[in-house]
Amino acid sequence: MTNAPMIDLRGTTKKYDDGPPALAGVTLSVAAGECVAILGHSGSGKSTLLNLIAGLDRPSSGTVTVAGTRVDQLGEAGSAKYRRASVGMIFQFFNLLDDLTVLDNVMVPAQLAGMGKGDAKRRAAELLGSLGIDRHAGAYPARLSGGQRQRAAAARALMNKPALLLADEPTGALDSSSAEDVRRLLLDLNREGQTILLVTHDVQLAASTAHRTIELVDGAVERDVINDGSGAGLAARTPLARPAGEVG
Ligand SMILES: Nc1ncnc2c1ncn2[C@@H]1O[C@H](COP(=O)(O)OP(=O)(O)OP(=O)(O)O)[C@@H](O)[C@H]1O
Ligand SMILES: [Mg+2]
Repeated sequence: MTNAPMIDLRGTTKKYDDGPPALAGVTLSVAAGECVAILGHSGSGKSTLLNLIAGLDRPSSGTVTVAGTRVDQLGEAGSAKYRRASVGMIFQFFNLLDDLTVLDNVMVPAQLAGMGKGDAKRRAAELLGSLGIDRHAGAYPARLSGGQRQRAAAARALMNKPALLLADEPTGALDSSSAEDVRRLLLDLNREGQTILLVTHDVQLAASTAHRTIELVDGAVERDVINDGSGAGLAARTPLARPAGEVG
């Protein structure tokens, strides 16, 4: 148990239709406590990979094991339960519920998992405090800046103390200063032991946040390298295109 990887994929393939597979025989292992960046061009299979690990989708072949659980074999209810208990997700566009306050948004996962309202409220307030947005607890998401919204989304993702934090382009919609806030947040969480998978187009973000970068090309692992922190090597070797208008 102690030495088992947090994430383990073996020959994992995902085909959606007759075209080339979105993921093509991916084998990779992530240890507990790692922060790993998943880099790759648009359409290379990054979100597909996260969705399989989150149990939101099933592989066409191969296996997905997270913390000893064969996620690819879970039924619908088992998969929902696994996600509630073990996975926190942050997305590019926050996915907060507009008609709930920040505090209520953050409380949702705990209430779905059956935590009492008082306990959920205490934990949510504590998280908002540690992420520096407690004074916005009573506000609606529309009143918050992008960076503040992403912090609220992070608080929600962390509510059930997930073994795994999955972030899909978490800075993709943010200005550079908010993006830097989110980057530091991920660094802090990882320092405290949180296992993180960070999907991004941004070579510098990957190199400065994660200690390891996995690059996908056409659904396959093209490269799996330990970062030296500068990002210079990767940036020089892999000039990845970024969607127009993206800041970071
Ligand atoms: N639900 C789906 N049905 C059919 N094809 C899909 C589906 N989801 C993804 N694909 C295809 O699988 C491939 C990989 O998509 P994926 O979303 O994983 O890429 P990505 O690396 O996350 O791209 P981006 O950087 O643009 O978010 C693409 O060719 C995409 O069109
Ligand atoms: Mg994607």
